[in-house]
Amino acid sequence: MDKVVSLCKRRGFVFQSSEIYGGLASIWDYGPLGIALKNNIANYWWREMTQLHDNIVGVDAAILMHPQVWKASGHVDGFVDPLVDCKQCKARFKAQDLIKQWRAKKKLAAISDGEIPDGGEGDIEQLMKVRWPEAACPSCGTTGNLTAPRQFNLMLKTFLGPVEESAAVVYLRPETAQGIYVNYQNVVNTARVKLPFGIAQIGKAFRNEITPGNFIFRTREFEQMEMQFFVPPADATEWLVKWCDKRFKYYKKLGIRPDKLRLHQHTPQELAHYAADAYDIEYEFPFGWQELEGIHNRTDFDLKRHTEFSGKDLSYMNEETKERFVPYIIETSSGLNRTLLTCLVDGYYEDTQDGEARTVLRLAPEIAPFKAGVFSLVKKDGLAELADQLANDLRKVGAVFVDHSGSIGRRYRRMDEIGTPWGITVDYQTKEDQTVTLRDRDTLEQLRIKMNELPGWMAAKLVVG
Ligand code: GLY
Repeated sequence: MDKVVSLCKRRGFVFQSSEIYGGLASIWDYGPLGIALKNNIANYWWREMTQLHDNIVGVDAAILMHPQVWKASGHVDGFVDPLVDCKQCKARFKAQDLIKQWRAKKKLAAISDGEIPDGGEGDIEQLMKVRWPEAACPSCGTTGNLTAPRQFNLMLKTFLGPVEESAAVVYLRPETAQGIYVNYQNVVNTARVKLPFGIAQIGKAFRNEITPGNFIFRTREFEQMEMQFFVPPADATEWLVKWCDKRFKYYKKLGIRPDKLRLHQHTPQELAHYAADAYDIEYEFPFGWQELEGIHNRTDFDLKRHTEFSGKDLSYMNEETKERFVPYIIETSSGLNRTLLTCLVDGYYEDTQDGEARTVLRLAPEIAPFKAGVFSLVKKDGLAELADQLANDLRKVGAVFVDHSGSIGRRYRRMDEIGTPWGITVDYQTKEDQTVTLRDRDTLEQLRIKMNELPGWMAAKLVVG
């Protein structure tokens, strides 16, 4: 993991936010290569979910929404973490984390009151009852200083308008999903969609996480790629299974090693307040198995709550059967930053070529920041001009990086390290027969190919499907 973090900084994938001021904890900026990779992943997801499905359309809702949205969604009351403070050292902990730590160390005796049933770490009511007068603080080690759990809402608040008063409070959305639900009727009225259909959206979300960390894995500002699929209630279970399957295949298509992926069904205690059933697609990061994407059966919870709070009827009329009902929603909720981290971690490897150490990012060509490095063997004799000309043709297909200086081996390695799948070298033979050397990052195979065939060859490699 440290190597990936250092590569990200060294090559300009990810920088710490406001670094010249000492940084802002757990907030990150994306550099030239990072934004290219992030945009490519977002486009890949967008094409997969919208272009490749004739029954999924897109929206782009605002981050700020009417405050009633979050009352209706249950986030004002239900999106809370019970927190415990150490009165001595002021460290703050999630009650769940303390219990997990003590369970792991078999120090359950530390919990003196409030029985926590097995697997009950997610049960807020149970957690609020826990007391630990004899327990030691994991941070400073003193005993008897941990407070009772207190509820802490994870939504970030701000004020709209010139006055900072309670009437002007709005929230930064903690999930993009609600922007889809409040536009559900607009989409039905305008997009000629019929059940089952989906609405996709990519956008920022914010959570005041108590324990952010693991680089860009858990951050307070992040991007979600969510798709809400509206179905007749009777079909919800079938669609949940179908979407788990489709989404699992998607990560394999993205080039993630299948043995590092698994599906985890939520226990009743793990289920979010809106979900009747849910699966996580997890990846085995260096810091353990963690959620990459959540796939939830949200039932009719959200649309019914918005009907109740807004007074607007959000039911659906099946024109053929004349049946009216509130659709169920199957949600696929993927983290853009997490997917990016997964691609970096999963693709990172080191080997030795010609006696020299090589670092490689095995990124799928569709998402690689540059598709090809274009090199001239030497800068003189018209080779640089030929390489520039070829690069201009290739740019119409995908981003390329031109490099005229240094040894060819070093130029290849600089490209390998940032995940560029192909290296193309213009040499003296090019002037005679218009062919160039095409070298593959992963197999290291080299072949000669006609310059004018390269744009078509590359375009064919980048087709998604
Ligand atoms: N929309 C689901 C989530 O944010 O986890």
